[in-house]
Amino acid sequence: MADPLTKFAYLGLQGGRSLMGLAHKEVSTRLLQWVAPTAAPLTVPVPPEMLKELRAAMERLLEQDWQEAEAGIYPASLLFDAPWLDWAARYPLVWLDMPLTWNRRARRQVRDLPQDVEPEAFPDYYLQNFHHQTDGYLSDHSAALYDLQVEILFNGAADPMRRRLLKPLVQGLAAFAERPASSLRVLDIAAGTGRTLRQIRGALPQGHLVGLDLSAAYLRQANSWLSQLPGELPQLVQGNAEAMPFGDASMQAATCVFLLHELPAAARANVLREAFRVLEPGGVFVLADSVQLADSPQYTVAMENFRRVFHEPYYRDYISDDIEARLAQTGFLDIRAETHFMSRVWAARKPL
Ligand SMILES: C[S@@+](CC[C@H](N)C(=O)[O-])C[C@H]1O[C@@H](n2cnc3c(N)ncnc32)[C@H](O)[C@@H]1O
Repeated sequence: MADPLTKFAYLGLQGGRSLMGLAHKEVSTRLLQWVAPTAAPLTVPVPPEMLKELRAAMERLLEQDWQEAEAGIYPASLLFDAPWLDWAARYPLVWLDMPLTWNRRARRQVRDLPQDVEPEAFPDYYLQNFHHQTDGYLSDHSAALYDLQVEILFNGAADPMRRRLLKPLVQGLAAFAERPASSLRVLDIAAGTGRTLRQIRGALPQGHLVGLDLSAAYLRQANSWLSQLPGELPQLVQGNAEAMPFGDASMQAATCVFLLHELPAAARANVLREAFRVLEPGGVFVLADSVQLADSPQYTVAMENFRRVFHEPYYRDYISDDIEARLAQTGFLDIRAETHFMSRVWAARKPL
């Protein structure tokens, strides 16, 4: 059971993370406006009521994060899990990379990828500089900076949002409670650098975890983070989430975080269909991605700005997509959805 002092430490730490994210964005925006004003994206000023609402939503997220740790869904140590020294060492690289990002955005260059990438190995929509990031998802350099960039983007709230998967995941796996925990297979689709798998490992120390991603570089980074954890090393597999290299009904649970908004609509439908196929009947699927226009109209300006600052070619389509309807059309039952700060979390079950 976590104690009030731990809560105080957690909220203090999150306050610091939030300040660091805000300070970084403020300084980098001013610098850009000073050195290359033509490269600055045209954004809409965020109204004060929306900032107030965002702060309140962040506080609710952190309170729930704390409450669920206290309820034993995951250990309180997970609330403090971040590779601080490593991030500090990588932070200068974020600054060194920034002019390249600005330049790419100013020149509207969105397919500036490493020379050795074999285009036929990837779907066409993937071969882009999402977020204008150097090398897209296709280099160790990009993988080394990704976690830190997401940390800054969400002012330290990325992992608290990822952890909102854990309660529906643990509750969904209760359907298989009579089986040994080590026999339960949990697949994280688009595992990236492994941050979601780290959270899942905290809640399911004995589960057999599998991560799938198209990027070999991101999986290498995931392997280096995840191999530091005690227990069985998650199995990491390179592959397309639209045609996953796993058997029918081979997983008891599947998760997917921050992928759908980066896919064209047809690929989104394919991923949901594949998640359904690989799940055993009775298995649980938990998805987390950006809030959408229907559930969070009060954040429309933030959603519009996100699309303008970062190269996110499918985001506009995603924020109006009816994910509940897609899950239902795919065959899922018991579909539930909740909003947590800037994220929407859906949980659903494959019928028996
Ligand atoms: C925004 S990142 C999210 C990563 C991770 N889930 C997280 O929480 O940080 C999107 C990830 O999806 C992967 N990805 C994109 N399209 C994919 C596809 N069709 N199949 C598998 N992975 C894909 C990318 O390589 C990248 O790692």
